[in-house]
Amino acid sequence: MTQDRRVSIIGLGYVGLPLAIAFAEAGLEVEGVDASPSRVAELNARHSPIDDIDDGRLAAALDGRLRVVAPADAGPGDADALFVCVPTPITTTRDPDLGPVLAAAAFVRDGLRAGHLVVLQSTTFPGTTSGPFREVIEASGLVAGVDFDLAFAPERVNPGDPASSGRGVPRLVGGSTPAGTKRAAVLLASVNDRVVEMSSPDAAEMAKLLENTFRNVNIAFVNQLALLCERMGLDVWEIIDAAATKPFGFMRFTPGPGVGGHCIPVDPYYLAWRAREFDFTERFIELAGDINLGMPRHVVDLVAEALNDRGKALKGARVGVLGVAFKPNVQDPRNSPAGAILPLIMDRGAELRYHDPLIPRFRDDTGFVHEGVGLDSLLHWADVFVIVTAHRSIEWDHLFDEAGLVVDTVNVSRNRTTRERQVLRLGAGWSRGA
Ligand SMILES: NC(=O)c1ccc[n+]([C@@H]2O[C@H](COP(=O)([O-])OP(=O)(O)OC[C@H]3O[C@@H](n4cnc5c(N)ncnc54)[C@H](O)[C@@H]3O)[C@@H](O)[C@H]2O)c1
Repeated sequence: MTQDRRVSIIGLGYVGLPLAIAFAEAGLEVEGVDASPSRVAELNARHSPIDDIDDGRLAAALDGRLRVVAPADAGPGDADALFVCVPTPITTTRDPDLGPVLAAAAFVRDGLRAGHLVVLQSTTFPGTTSGPFREVIEASGLVAGVDFDLAFAPERVNPGDPASSGRGVPRLVGGSTPAGTKRAAVLLASVNDRVVEMSSPDAAEMAKLLENTFRNVNIAFVNQLALLCERMGLDVWEIIDAAATKPFGFMRFTPGPGVGGHCIPVDPYYLAWRAREFDFTERFIELAGDINLGMPRHVVDLVAEALNDRGKALKGARVGVLGVAFKPNVQDPRNSPAGAILPLIMDRGAELRYHDPLIPRFRDDTGFVHEGVGLDSLLHWADVFVIVTAHRSIEWDHLFDEAGLVVDTVNVSRNRTTRERQVLRLGAGWSRGA
């Protein structure tokens, strides 16, 4: 049973909000703090911005033990444990931006008292918790491991996939002392079935980066294989399905229009940057980044190829994009490949509209804001359709019944073709049907 009964969660996004609600449901007193006034207002209006937390669950937590406040109204000194769950973005040159983490550390510092447990959850490079994060907090005059406990415990939530989120997913934790590790592990065990204790915050930070870099590198590998299969006249999807029948030593990854979200296209650069401080070039990360960043351009080339097959140019064509979220069934557009694909299509002189039932308005990587349209209006308008994100809620049968020419980057058209039997699949070439 944890000694810590009052927790403060700093940052109420995809990671912090589910954690705050889980602690409240486990019977702890929870103060959720967010620097964004609109986020605080939205949550207190009982509207959840996160797919996996429905409004009813949020409302029940707010009626129970959860309080959501702005930093100025927070009382971190009253908490026993503080969890930092703020973003860890990269700069335009793909270097770590620790701004939000260090701002949150300063908030912790100002409310710190002897006996606190401070846990960083944001994904970051090895050495953050015991380096810059700790230094900012210790400016309070209190010392980690002596006056307060300090730990890193990465989050593994997979938004949009309830089976890969919640208490069934083991948590890692590494403290700056064995006692700190144990204390954080006991507290996390109130909301997780299994907590794995590690030797240090640095080791836990590296484990999280291993997980996400593994994914990024393997996605890059199948993306590259998809390009090769196109040249060789093979269907990469058939080949992946076949390889995946091997019951050991193979893990299925699928190609696509690029990688997106807060984690996979970002976290590996934290490791690459840190590696350079040790005169070490993380070549897998640089290569994988290069391949994955090239996929949106390849998608646009496929659209041009599809039109070319009909004797048309991309310039002046009307392109309908299906799905702009970074992955299916979430309303999260962060770092979506669509952000690069849309401006590339417009740069080549095409007109463009998109349909995404989960994202009514979409800001692309150039900052241009697109307004989504209904599927029927897109069907009546476009010369060619490009499938970027295969949400369940898109009426695929209707699309394939009505559309002429489709470029499919995620193989949602498998075993289907259009009215005019014209589907160009990434990694497979033309499916012209019977
Ligand atoms: N989204 C995921 O699926 C996921 C999974 C595992 C790990 N992570 C990691 O968890 C961390 C948080 O990611 P997220 O997806 O929850 O981000 P998010 O953008 O959804 O939420 C972060 C919240 O923190 C708030 N915030 C920013 N600075 C703050 C400050 N100084 N004080 C208080 N609040 C502040 C923001 O307003 C925002 O509401 C990142 O490091 C991310 O890499 C994310």
